[in-house]
Amino acid sequence: MRIGILTGGGDCPGLNAVIRGAVRAAEVTYDSTVVGFRNAWRGVMDNDFELLDVDRCRGILPLGGTILGTSRDQPFAFEDGLKKVRKAYDRHGLDAIIGVGGEGSMSVLARLHENGFPIVGVPKTIDNDISLTEMTFGFQTAVQICTDAIDRLHTTAESHHRVLVVEVMGRHVGHIATWSGIAGGAAITLVPEEPFDIGEVCERIVHRHRKGRFATIIVVAEGALPQPGTMELPEPEMDKYGHQILGGIGSILAREIQGRTGIESRMTALGHIQRGGSPVAFDRVLGTRFGVAAVEAALDGAWGQMVALQQGHIVRVPISDAVGQLKMVDADLLRLNTMFQPRIPGDEYPG
Ligand code: F6P
Repeated sequence: MRIGILTGGGDCPGLNAVIRGAVRAAEVTYDSTVVGFRNAWRGVMDNDFELLDVDRCRGILPLGGTILGTSRDQPFAFEDGLKKVRKAYDRHGLDAIIGVGGEGSMSVLARLHENGFPIVGVPKTIDNDISLTEMTFGFQTAVQICTDAIDRLHTTAESHHRVLVVEVMGRHVGHIATWSGIAGGAAITLVPEEPFDIGEVCERIVHRHRKGRFATIIVVAEGALPQPGTMELPEPEMDKYGHQILGGIGSILAREIQGRTGIESRMTALGHIQRGGSPVAFDRVLGTRFGVAAVEAALDGAWGQMVALQQGHIVRVPISDAVGQLKMVDADLLRLNTMFQPRIPGDEYPG
């Protein structure tokens, strides 16, 4: 079999583990060939590719990023996009393309499948927000990076008796914020799932200070929003794909907290540090499992399927079922945020 592979959307620790896993399974176990397309669908449309073999993949397991490069370009955005994709299948004699990507990339794969292309999906995102898979690779690495940063911020916050706001990634969901907030022992964690009340946040900080806790770490997901009408927000700056370019909510919050409480406050936005560098072991293992499973799905002709992690096992789910709604943070984890935040009079124990 001849299988194409590409990595699309934002890069993510563990992508090279997927590529290596797929290539090793294809070449060593299944006597198949893998064609790697550079920079996602742009490489398919421009015939920018390299043949991948076990030798080419030697040493890439601990590498961050993706040896194939990535982009957010996709065939449906171009008039002749589908024609060029069809040509790539013919030119390389491809039986399948494995697309590794986030929610946006999975939607493209679902549409390609509807258009009759033999494709298989591998879910990827540090945000961990793709439905029907319990975990995506890259997420655990991002959480570890945030946790290490929060550990460091505790000592400087303590020394200066400051509020330190840590802005982490998560445009639509608060998985990274929730996990790193719990792991790093943040006093308050704010996530998109639950719009916050700035007045209440400040009240909790002030109460904490009155009890002699003069340093407060607040973790905020970049997509967290105040409850409507409670705080003025400037218009965010967006890129051509509709993604916010500059972190914003962290600095807005720090300024607001300092203004309302009089307590010195600072902001740290961890940004793309969360996506860079070597994947932790969990992400290498999950990436490898996904890469192998995607090749096996292609060999089985499981077109339009996405590999996924469910109850510790690798399964296949229809890509079309995985797109359209993001996976939010579980209520029981969100409950810990509420339980552990500084108490104020009138708080009820969250049931
Ligand atoms: O989806 C992954 C992600 O890292 C988000 O957490 C973040 O909002 C976005 O990508 C950043 O995108 P870009 O790399 O285009 O700035």
